[in-house]
Amino acid sequence: MPQQLRKITVVGATGGGIGSWILKGALEAGHTVSVVTRLESDTSSIPPGVAAIHRAAYDDVAAVTALLKGQDVLVLAIGFMAMKAVQGHLITAAAAAGVPWVVPTEYGSQTVVTDPLELLNPIFAGKAAFRKQIEELGVAGWIGVVNNPWTEFSLRRGAPAFGIDIAARKATLYDGGNTKLNTTTYPKVGRTLAAVLALPDAELAKYRNAWLHASSFHVSQRDLLASVLKATGESESGWVVEERSAEEVVAEAAKEPFDSRLLYATVARAGYGGDYNDKVVDYAALGIEQEDLDAVVKSVVDEIRSAPPPSA
Ligand SMILES: NC(=O)c1ccc[n+]([C@@H]2O[C@H](COP(=O)([O-])OP(=O)(O)OC[C@H]3O[C@@H](n4cnc5c(N)ncnc54)[C@H](OP(=O)(O)O)[C@@H]3O)[C@@H](O)[C@H]2O)c1
Repeated sequence: MPQQLRKITVVGATGGGIGSWILKGALEAGHTVSVVTRLESDTSSIPPGVAAIHRAAYDDVAAVTALLKGQDVLVLAIGFMAMKAVQGHLITAAAAAGVPWVVPTEYGSQTVVTDPLELLNPIFAGKAAFRKQIEELGVAGWIGVVNNPWTEFSLRRGAPAFGIDIAARKATLYDGGNTKLNTTTYPKVGRTLAAVLALPDAELAKYRNAWLHASSFHVSQRDLLASVLKATGESESGWVVEERSAEEVVAEAAKEPFDSRLLYATVARAGYGGDYNDKVVDYAALGIEQEDLDAVVKSVVDEIRSAPPPSA
């Protein structure tokens, strides 16, 4: 497919989170990539090849507008707790600068159809306001990246995430653990967005005010556990594996202010939106190769098992 490389500015690229992988993916794809970061941020992790590193207070709309003039895309990848306070100013600046595409901080799940969305509102509802803001400003189109739980991030988080605690050799499987869900690695999110942003105008137009579904793996909790056991050389008999009703876990987690099992148990529940395999972008057409689940899982297992035990 012919490519149309673009001028992309990424905000939120300094940490080790998704913004840094989006930056990497965009650079590797050949886009001209700039970074806008806060006045006080540490930029030492930003890789070479970036066109410019600009500093600005994110609520200084005039300053950010000046930095965004001439850019084709503004990608926002702001930490969840900070996003609500700062993202609106950056979107206002993008419109003032005439930037035609904004990728707002999404990078989540679309459990939009059913009851649990009510429960998940604290996590996802705040993001809708920014998509609405972009539409009302009428300058840019938004592209919302859906990637479900990030694979390595979630395996590292252990029990409250996919229910698999590699360090403690314990697993909690929801509804038998066989429900397929999509999960995406950090690098794949970056590569997917970069490839879509390199589509010619007519193709990219299909993503205007629309969702972009990325995925590395279409797996169940049991598939993930099997891959972990393969990486460790252990068998299930050496682990404590329990099965729980996803509905019960969701209800339990909903009572707490921030219990991430609410999200993970919903995503692992049949019919609640965690399996979006039929919507995933056409990776063959984008020229992006399938990753190896066992290799990704093993790298996390090695990391966790080689870490010193927490001190008492
Ligand atoms: N799918 C998943 O599994 C998953 C998991 C967690 C989060 N998410 C989503 O992904 C988004 C990004 O998460 P992340 O973990 O990549 O973010 P992160 O690494 O915590 O933060 C990304 C960037 O946000 C900026 N930032 C941090 N604190 C800020 C503050 N107080 N004010 C202004 N900017 C601040 C920083 O960039 P500068 O220093 O350059 O300003 C930072 O590098 C979240 O908002 C959430 O919606 C998805």
